[in-house]
Amino acid sequence: MKNLEIVRSTFKEKFGTDGSVYFSPGRINLIGEHTDYNGGFVLPGAVDKGMLIELKPNGTDKIRAYSIDLKESSEFGMNEEDRPAEGWARYIFGVVRELAKRDGKAEGFDTVFTGDVPLGAGMSSSAALESAYAYALNDIFKMNIDKKQLVKVGQMTEHNYVGVNCGIMDQFASIFGKEGHLIKLDCSNMEFEYVPFEPKGYKVVLLDSVVKHALVGSPYNERRLSCERVAKEVNKKYPEVEHMCQANFDQLNAVKELVSAEDFMRAEYAVGEAERLRTACDAMTKGDFETVGKMMYGTHWGMSKLYEVSCEELDFLATVAEEAGVTGSRIMGGGFGGCTINVVKEDLYDGFIAKAKKEYSAKYGHEPKVYDVVIGEGSRKIC
Ligand code: GLA
Repeated sequence: MKNLEIVRSTFKEKFGTDGSVYFSPGRINLIGEHTDYNGGFVLPGAVDKGMLIELKPNGTDKIRAYSIDLKESSEFGMNEEDRPAEGWARYIFGVVRELAKRDGKAEGFDTVFTGDVPLGAGMSSSAALESAYAYALNDIFKMNIDKKQLVKVGQMTEHNYVGVNCGIMDQFASIFGKEGHLIKLDCSNMEFEYVPFEPKGYKVVLLDSVVKHALVGSPYNERRLSCERVAKEVNKKYPEVEHMCQANFDQLNAVKELVSAEDFMRAEYAVGEAERLRTACDAMTKGDFETVGKMMYGTHWGMSKLYEVSCEELDFLATVAEEAGVTGSRIMGGGFGGCTINVVKEDLYDGFIAKAKKEYSAKYGHEPKVYDVVIGEGSRKIC
C-alpha cells in the first residue's frame, strides 16, 4: 500500500515503537450534489486514495500527533477546553470529542498520518481523516460504536470543531465504501444499497482545476440555510415535505412568493438535482450511461447558474468536455473549486485529455491534473 513504509518509519522515528495502521479513503460522487443535507439521495463511491494513519496508546491523557505532509507536531489534551491551535489537529481532537459524546472513551495516544487524496480537490480529504481516526479509535479502544455512528462522529466533527455544516455523504462513503460499487444512500434516514459500478466501454476521470477549494468560511453554510428556509415554507403547506429534496416542482412553486428570489433559486437546484439523481439511477441499472451523462451536465449547469458554487475554471472544463463529446461532465463535491468528474467513452479518452490539457493551459497557464478513478474499499485496518 502506498505510503505504508513512510508511515511506519516515521512513527518509529518519532515514538520509538510500532503502532497499528488504518486507512480511510476519499470519495467521488457520480451525481446528487448538495442533496445530502437536503434529505435527498447521493451516489458516491470510495476511491483508492485516502489517509493512512498509525497510532498507539501512550499511557498518558495526551494526544501527540504528527502530520507527515505538513511536517508539524501538535500535543493536546482530550477535554473540551484542550482544543489545539493547529487547524489539522482539530480534526483529530474533534473526533475524540465526538466519540466521547457517544460514550467512546479514548485514552492518550501517539499518532502520525499522511494522505494521498489531493487537498482541496473536492474528494473529501478531511472526511477521510475524520473517518480514519473514528474507525481506528473505535477499534483500538474497543468502543463498540456502530459504523453509522462513526459516520456521524466525522460529520459532527465538521459541524462542531471545523465550522462546516456538511451532510453525511463524505464520511459515509469513507466508512462504508466497497470496491467496484457506488453507494445509493438515502440521506434522510441513512438507508443504503450498494450498486455495482461497471461502466463498460467508458472511463471515469477527474480533472482537477487546481483552484483551491475550502469549505470553511465558504458560502456552503449559506446554501444550506437557503434551502432550509424554503423547505420550512413548503412544509407549512405540504407537511410530508421535511427537506428540500423531498419536494416536487409544484410544491416548490407554491411558495415562490413567500421566499427570496435567491433562496428560491437554490431550492430550484435542489429539487432539480433530486430528479436528476432518480433519472440517473434508473438509467444506470439499464447500463444507459448516455442518460447518466446528460444528467451530469444538468447538475453542472445547475450548480453553476442556480446554486452558484462553480467557478470560471470548472465551467471551462465542463465546456471543453462537452465539445470533446464526453458523455457526462460536472463539478464534483461542495464546489468553489476542485475537480470535474467525467464519464467518457474509452475511444474518446486520449483526445479529451489532450484537448483539456492544451486548452486549459492556454487559458490558465497550467494544466489540470488528471486522476483516473478506481472505486476502492472503505475504512479498514491495514496492520
Ligand atoms: C461537501 C460536503 C458534503 C456534500 C457535498 C456536496 O463535500 O461535505 O456533505 O454536501 O459537499 O454534495
